[in-house]
Amino acid sequence: MSFDPTVLHVVGARPNFMKVAPVLRALRRRAFGRQVLVHTGQHYDDAMSSVFFDDLDLPDPDVHLGVGSASHARQTADVLRAIEPVLEAYAPDLVMVVGDVNSTLAAALAAAKLNRPVAHLEAGLRSGDRTMPEEINRLLTDQLAELLLTPSRDADRNLEREGVPPDRIHFVGNVMIDSLERVLPKVRSAEGLEALGVADGEYAAVTLHRPSNVDDARQLADIFQALDEIAAEVPVLFPMHPRTRARAAEFGLTLDAVRVMEPVGYETMLILQAHAAVVLTDSGGMQEETTVLGVPCLTLRENTERPVTITEGTNRLVPRRTPEAIVSAFRAARTDGRNPRRPERWDGRAAERVADAIEKWAERRGVRRGAAHV
Ligand code: UD1
Repeated sequence: MSFDPTVLHVVGARPNFMKVAPVLRALRRRAFGRQVLVHTGQHYDDAMSSVFFDDLDLPDPDVHLGVGSASHARQTADVLRAIEPVLEAYAPDLVMVVGDVNSTLAAALAAAKLNRPVAHLEAGLRSGDRTMPEEINRLLTDQLAELLLTPSRDADRNLEREGVPPDRIHFVGNVMIDSLERVLPKVRSAEGLEALGVADGEYAAVTLHRPSNVDDARQLADIFQALDEIAAEVPVLFPMHPRTRARAAEFGLTLDAVRVMEPVGYETMLILQAHAAVVLTDSGGMQEETTVLGVPCLTLRENTERPVTITEGTNRLVPRRTPEAIVSAFRAARTDGRNPRRPERWDGRAAERVADAIEKWAERRGVRRGAAHV
């Protein structure tokens, strides 16, 4: 019997693109059903979105919702409203949402209300911190999903603790690493580093955008002071997220010695990470990428939803973000050296496991060409 379901994949913001790309490729390689790609437009700049489509070889979206930036309620509501008619028109057998951004929750909610089954890729991650908008998105999306695709064993345990039936949980591994694997030889060669004007192992790379760091004037001032102090020891490269740029301007904060850049594309960000002495970040994905690249990572947060990057990887939390604490954490991390690590199933084959799980789910559900929705 041939199965031919429609899978509708939703992307919205920068960290979604590298997760969806390998899954789309794996399903297309198997000629599994029809794949529809919907971009909500939560991120819309070339530097935050288009460049990733090129770098990751993503097909153009079939539908672009053009939602853009707004408050949390409004942005979530805008996606809800805009995606409902798309779900009605395509009548997908499965709606695939990824990660923890506002678009993820909104798409999952709209789909669930229309009785469209939802798969959540990167399910089960928990920081335990409900002041993070992403934590709310994770908790609610996992409640709505029928297929929970997890990157690590701790995620399985979190879901079981929350009462998710074990047969819905599939430990597929980390699809981010599938995307990384494709470009790893290029990223590891120091080619491209010269263009950035730095030498291998002799600079720090920084990204920041979390509200807890950048929306608070005092906190952002402390971090900027630390970065300027670090820049007296090594060059510091800082591709700045538009949110951070806007807040810094609002608070009248500047960086004197740090090289502030526009946001960079996928490959350039990996090159910057792979050859840094230390990465300082509040990104989720970069905690994972630095673990596989073996580069010391300082996460400027009180918690992480990705504990394996600490227990098995190169990540350390810097919970007190005073200038002194950040600078001394940097000095300590600098002596760590490179130590590439691969947590279980971070092997570049996670998307194949996702495709396996979807195929099995479709068979179980009896989803096939022309079949009425179950
Ligand atoms: C969002 C996600 C976060 C993810 C991050 C990666 C939520 C709640 N947060 O945070 O989980 O780690 O993306 O970047 O979904 N802006 C632009 N151009 C763009 C996109 C954003 O200028 O292409 C500016 C806007 O001024 C906007 C601000 O950035 O107000 C914030 O964008 P938004 O999507 O609301 O959240 P992020 O902080 O990017």
